Amino acid sequence: MCGIIGYSGSFCAQKILLDGLEQLEYRGYDSAGMALQKSNGELFLRKKAGRVSVLREACEGAPINSVCGIGHTRWATHGGVNDVNAHPHNCGKVTLIHNGIIENYHEITAAFGFAGRLHSETDTEVAACLLDYLYQGDPFEALRQAVDILTGSYAFCILFADQPGRIFCIRNVSPLVAAHNDSGSFVASDLTALIAYGKSYFVVPEETVMTLSPEGISIRDLSGQPVEPEILTVDWNVESARKGGYPHYMIKEINEQPEALQNTVLPRLKDGLPDFTDEGIPDTLFASCDNITVIACGTAMYAGMVGKAVMEQAFKIPVSVHIASEFRYDTPLISSRTLTIVISQSGETIDTLAALRLAKACSSRTLAIVNVKGSAIARESDYVLYTHAGPEIAVASTKAYTVQLAVLYLIACRFSLLRGCFTADQGRKFIAALLSSSGAMEQMIRHDQAIREAVKTVKRSDHAFFIGRGLDYAFSLEGALKLKEISYIHAEAYAAGELKHGTIALIEERTPVVALATQEKIFAKTISNVREVRARGAAVILIVKEGAQVDPDIYDIRIDLPVSQDEFAVFPAAVSLQLLAYYTSDAKGLNVDKPRNLAKSVTVE
Ligand code: F6R
Repeated sequence: MCGIIGYSGSFCAQKILLDGLEQLEYRGYDSAGMALQKSNGELFLRKKAGRVSVLREACEGAPINSVCGIGHTRWATHGGVNDVNAHPHNCGKVTLIHNGIIENYHEITAAFGFAGRLHSETDTEVAACLLDYLYQGDPFEALRQAVDILTGSYAFCILFADQPGRIFCIRNVSPLVAAHNDSGSFVASDLTALIAYGKSYFVVPEETVMTLSPEGISIRDLSGQPVEPEILTVDWNVESARKGGYPHYMIKEINEQPEALQNTVLPRLKDGLPDFTDEGIPDTLFASCDNITVIACGTAMYAGMVGKAVMEQAFKIPVSVHIASEFRYDTPLISSRTLTIVISQSGETIDTLAALRLAKACSSRTLAIVNVKGSAIARESDYVLYTHAGPEIAVASTKAYTVQLAVLYLIACRFSLLRGCFTADQGRKFIAALLSSSGAMEQMIRHDQAIREAVKTVKRSDHAFFIGRGLDYAFSLEGALKLKEISYIHAEAYAAGELKHGTIALIEERTPVVALATQEKIFAKTISNVREVRARGAAVILIVKEGAQVDPDIYDIRIDLPVSQDEFAVFPAAVSLQLLAYYTSDAKGLNVDKPRNLAKSVTVE
């Protein structure tokens, strides 16, 4: 949450910052601001509530000729959405931007008597006052002292009035990446803002002070020793972070799923079977555990629910799935015999990170499934399997979900082979079916007429229900989340058999019910539940495998999934539910990519 960019070089900083903020806007879109510094130290501060486009308009009318500056796009935590609370914040000689939360800002305000100096309601302004108070001409020393006082998570980029052309950065938990090249020195909260300027970058190490200047970037640890960061190479191209002709990022990312699945699965196959040894993951990790705990938030957690159903079925050891924000305050029943799998697209979700740390403290071995390279969760877990989805920009997750599933299916296969639950031949068939899911998703994307028809029913309603049993229930959870977050229709996913224990009271004439019935074993049972809601007037959108025999009187719209094996129905089903949410949101004229109140990467509790 909150996008950060800083630049010091020889080109127009205003342009670089505005372009970068546009790329980062998915991290927060309550307000945007920037501070530009001239070579004589003179500072120009511009900040506006609203989108980056509002800031751009304000800046382009009166451009500032500067080659150094910092920019910020905000997701409000402390204080309302207005110009005053927008970043950057200035106090005396210090101007800064911040991502994260300073937990002890009240205590700092009281202890240092800052109350009279504050103009905003933000924790960030208190940090600016603290730094100004500590600053005696040596930025390193002021930052070193500030670290001892501040508690919470933070990534700061700071300009000091008497240090023109230099940007100072420090972080704890909240992400920062940086790069230096012929155009100058860059820092940002994530790579999407940097990829236009080069392929090499590094993750800014925690507990270090980094200084950007046009000539280069230097890093020192808190004892003053130089630190050499590990240089990484971006494997995305600039186009992958652009809309590429699509009206929204979300529909572009839905379309990218077939390829993302192949990119995630194929490099991990040896002789048609999954093998993780090239990624440093020993088979003993799987062979020596008694149970699995999966921890994540939101969509990633729903991927875990599907993973649980598939894994328990395949290799018959208990798998439990936990919401990270709950798990982190529990007393978990895990041990060194537990494999903890944490799932996160961004790799920086604060609750998932805290849960990972707790699992490690309980001696569990940890394996992360992460999309963003070098992110905190990837770095801190014992092992990591990257999903190769490329950048996911739309706030509503789509391609990250299906590649998370793909990795869970790979793990299920590897485990099953090692535990003797699959022969090599069965393993190869499983993987072939997984790879063919790519084609099934492609077909679903190409033939979306029934889904577009279903939108007409769904968009009129304030409520919708998603029902299914077993695996169908697991993916209906994600379908309901997608619909509510981007179309603002209240949607609830319910285990189909549980509906009549209360919730069926909410079914009225024309209430949309999206019923998933893709699982052979429980097909008839789910269909009975569909009849129950139909008898109460529900408008049924039925999702089944192609060729399923169903009485046409029990549904309004039927969506056929091009798939034969039950375990793999989730891939085309996910696409159909994503498209249903996407077209509904678009038909309602909503901002599909930036739904209200949300932001990508939840870095606050
Ligand atoms: C919903 C969505 C969120 C994320 C959740 C976890 O579309 O994107 O529910 O899945 O915030 O985020 P990551 O995967 O980055 O940890």
